[in-house]
Amino acid sequence: MVASEAPYLAPGTQSIATLSGLAIARGENCLVEDVDGNRFLDIAAGICVNALGHAHPRYREILKAQIDEVTVGSLTTPRRAEALKKVASHTPPGLDRIQLYSGGTEAVEAAMRLAKSHTKKYEFLSFWGGFHGKTAGTLSLIGDGTKNHLGPMMPGAHHAPYAYCYRCPFGLKYPSCGLECAEFVRKVVKHETTGELAAILMEPIQGTAGNIVPPPEFMPAVQAIARENGALLVSDEMICGFGRTGKWFGCEHWGVVPDVVTMGKGLGAGFPVSGLASTDEITRARPWGAPSGSSSSYGGNPMAGAAILAAVTVVEEQGLVENAERVGAHMLRRFRELQEKYPFIGDVRGRGLLIGVELVKDRSSKEPLAKEVCAKLFQECLRRGLISMVYNPNFRVNPPLTIDQGTVDVALGILDEVFGKLACDGGWN
Ligand SMILES: Cc1ncc(COP(=O)(O)O)c(C=O)c1O
Repeated sequence: MVASEAPYLAPGTQSIATLSGLAIARGENCLVEDVDGNRFLDIAAGICVNALGHAHPRYREILKAQIDEVTVGSLTTPRRAEALKKVASHTPPGLDRIQLYSGGTEAVEAAMRLAKSHTKKYEFLSFWGGFHGKTAGTLSLIGDGTKNHLGPMMPGAHHAPYAYCYRCPFGLKYPSCGLECAEFVRKVVKHETTGELAAILMEPIQGTAGNIVPPPEFMPAVQAIARENGALLVSDEMICGFGRTGKWFGCEHWGVVPDVVTMGKGLGAGFPVSGLASTDEITRARPWGAPSGSSSSYGGNPMAGAAILAAVTVVEEQGLVENAERVGAHMLRRFRELQEKYPFIGDVRGRGLLIGVELVKDRSSKEPLAKEVCAKLFQECLRRGLISMVYNPNFRVNPPLTIDQGTVDVALGILDEVFGKLACDGGWN
């Protein structure tokens, strides 16, 4: 079936699809079943999209009801009205004006336009390793090789190193570093910008870069720098938002109330909906807040409103934020046990069900494990019924928020067996 689709599918699809070659028939909670009837435990979860697990009964019920009523347009629907009220009850204090979009990058672009409208300035600062999307503006703000050969980039885009302590860009150690990375942000603003900084954009925990957890002082320090420069702080919560890290929003871990949060992925739990939330005052800024200034064709359509309502209702009713905190802590402990056992596990970090595991050739050089070895780990896991993102040495773990301890133990059991095979076979090099 994959082969029958292949001639018509353009290259460049997600690695997990290409490497697994799976054709999926159905899913249920943390399990997916392929068209041949093989069942897999899925701890990649559509890269943080699948917050509720596959085919959650309540999610299906709410979306089916909506599809029978109305599916098109931007007019208020009862489910969207209820959904926005619920979302606003969970966003950081004061950020209760919400606009909806269809994809993550679109929401971040909207946040950039909002920052320009509010500050009347045009420069942005973001971080090495940060990922914010692949459209022109967001591409300019990402801090990895995705943008290579796609230049020129947007004028006014500046970057600084993130607080990536395992591989500190300054070669320092926390806490004796005195948070040199934050001080460096201040220097970049001073020496590189033209005094027109509209916003600093950051992920409260970097997702795509490897679920990198900064020290607690980093985000507050960045917010102080934004304020010193009359710029907004945008917390890109596409991955961290909606319970993933054991809190509703990632910025809550650091005691920061940003000026704007962007959200997506778990927000619609599979339906392509994203959004941003900011204050009443900021969202009034023109042209963003002028009639049709912040809207789009599909943003907040009736299906999107229903998907958000379903997602937030299930997260609330099943206590999934608390589940992410509790089960995530268990999963982190289990990964730390594996780290004691296997020298090629260099670092384990995380918050809630957002966990990063760095696979290295050896712990002193910290050289990443070869991609080919990681691809073999992926196939060995797949053969044992586990879909994971272990194909990358910066192994990202982000299962559905509904996962329980027993299922975590099954997944970790498979990883233990596969890592054990790698240890015995001398690294497959
Ligand atoms: C933090 C963050 N922002 C924005 C995006 C872009 O989202 P999308 O792929 O829906 O455009 C992503 C995607 O992974 C992300 O992780």
